[in-house]
Amino acid sequence: MAEFSLPAHSKIKKGTVHPKPEGASNTKAFHVYRWNPDDGENPHMDTYHVDMDNCGPMVLDALIKIKNEMDPTLTFRRSCREGVCGSCSMNIDGTNGLACTSAIEDVKGDVKITPLPHMEVIKDLVPDFKHFYAQYASIKPWMQTQTPAPTKERLQARDDREKLDGLYECILCACCSTSCPSYWWNGDKYLGPAVLLQAYRWLVDSRDEMTGERLDNLEDPFRLYRCHTIMNCANACPKGLNPAKAIAETKKMMLERQV
Ligand code: SF4
Ligand code: SF4
Ligand code: FES
Repeated sequence: MAEFSLPAHSKIKKGTVHPKPEGASNTKAFHVYRWNPDDGENPHMDTYHVDMDNCGPMVLDALIKIKNEMDPTLTFRRSCREGVCGSCSMNIDGTNGLACTSAIEDVKGDVKITPLPHMEVIKDLVPDFKHFYAQYASIKPWMQTQTPAPTKERLQARDDREKLDGLYECILCACCSTSCPSYWWNGDKYLGPAVLLQAYRWLVDSRDEMTGERLDNLEDPFRLYRCHTIMNCANACPKGLNPAKAIAETKKMMLERQV
């Protein structure tokens, strides 16, 4: 079997083990990926012992506590703390998810936290979303119309509006794309589940009038057809969405316009 190993400067080393908080009798260890582009050091895993009697229930609570009380250099993204902004996506105990909606008690034993897989890292738990957002922009995620604008809003029947359920809830956290093997290996050309779910969201919007052009834009051996229905994406989505289904529906639309 082929063996792969990381280049020497990328190997993850053991990092600092921060002391247990004084007087704490109920602690949990968090092993957190650290990498600073400015110090020339290898990435490493630092260990923090968090006093669970004095910490909120979610993984994000622990990270905020670590940053506030133990190590202000720890860097991660977060905003809403409600699972709606998508900024705290990371890999928790081997699974992609949102730190703010992942309960600490669901992780048995120590908690290992790393950035979303297969993305370039800017610092610590912060991945670089530039390419992901450029791919999102490439599907033109806004309503495109050709007919003159009505004097009031463009109306939509209730049934048509319901077609957007399971799609509009996507918060672009990239948990799905970064759990997709096809996206790991071909992410430069394959759009990945998150962006394809968003593309489908506009394909089925009854108010949009550029369906043909949108399908043309996806008609490519890589952009759409690298999905091999492995389904990791649906398992990873913290909002319970099913990008694989949206991709399958898009492929069906491609076929239907050919017959
Ligand atoms: S179903 Fe498609 S998009 Fe989802 S993980 Fe598999 S290959 Fe990736
Ligand atoms: S489909 Fe789910 S996992 Fe993927 S970006 Fe949207 S919310 Fe995140
Ligand atoms: S902080 Fe907004 S989704 Fe977690």
